[in-house]
Amino acid sequence: MAVRRAKITIIGAGMTGATTAHWCAASELGEIVLYDVIEGLPQGKALDLSEATPIARTDQRITGTCDWEDTARSDVVIITAGSPRKPGMSRKDLLATNHRVVEEVARQAVLRSPDAIFVVLTNPVDVMAYVVLRVTGLPPERVVGQAGILDATRFRAFVAMELGVSVRDVHAIVLGGHGDGMLPMVRLAQVGGVPLTELLERSKIDALVERTRRGGGEIVELLKASSAFYAPGAALAEMVAAIVRDQHRVLPAPAYLRGEYGISGLYTGVPIVLGAGGVERILEILLTAEEQTLFLRSADEVRGEMAELPTTV
Ligand code: 2OP
Repeated sequence: MAVRRAKITIIGAGMTGATTAHWCAASELGEIVLYDVIEGLPQGKALDLSEATPIARTDQRITGTCDWEDTARSDVVIITAGSPRKPGMSRKDLLATNHRVVEEVARQAVLRSPDAIFVVLTNPVDVMAYVVLRVTGLPPERVVGQAGILDATRFRAFVAMELGVSVRDVHAIVLGGHGDGMLPMVRLAQVGGVPLTELLERSKIDALVERTRRGGGEIVELLKASSAFYAPGAALAEMVAAIVRDQHRVLPAPAYLRGEYGISGLYTGVPIVLGAGGVERILEILLTAEEQTLFLRSADEVRGEMAELPTTV
């Protein structure tokens, strides 16, 4: 009996969408459909990626399209559509332009793929995930954002560089909203099982935390015309793998809170269990008083951004 491969639709064939397709293809996560409104862009990038598969030795179908019908019956829908930041902009500055785009693509996608898990990357991501939840009417476990894996991989990379050790041995999570108030969980970070706090002095750790918080902005300042896309794409591919392979991965990601951590009615970064059903669980960990204050402050930032959304869809 033939086993059906997962179908993964990536909406937005810009740098992030195409790079996500690249990472997903490299890991043979399923059949990939790259969607964009710009005629030729998704087709060209999908063809280019397809032509690399003999070298990559991956039997992988990658198609590009401007036709929503080609996205039908997807198992996973990734939303990267919208504008990236320019130097000097905050993620919040993108809200007005991106929420209309995200609303429209989510509406079109869910019509064709009502059973999919939606993963949202477009910024400001915590708010955009909420927009997708609202417009699709899907249950919260099937709409999740991507932020914490990206923020954590930056923190892990910086720690590994500082200590001169393998990135494989650095474990960390970042909680809270995907903004300057995000919360790299220093207390829980470990290097080969050893608490980070035993390996680096506090001032050095603080500098790495600050660099992580500004990690997205650091790349925007360098690239000028684009925001980051390699690490965001890799983070998305890790989430897709968790879903299509039903891995029950424990990962930090913006999830819709309904009373967890004393918060209701918004998306913010928390540890989740991610598998074929989407967000299978939200793990509630005990925060110190200081962490709790920072976490609530970060959630308040998200709430402030949400207040700028129109009340109707
Ligand atoms: C970042 O942090 C694009 O928000 C994304 O790079």
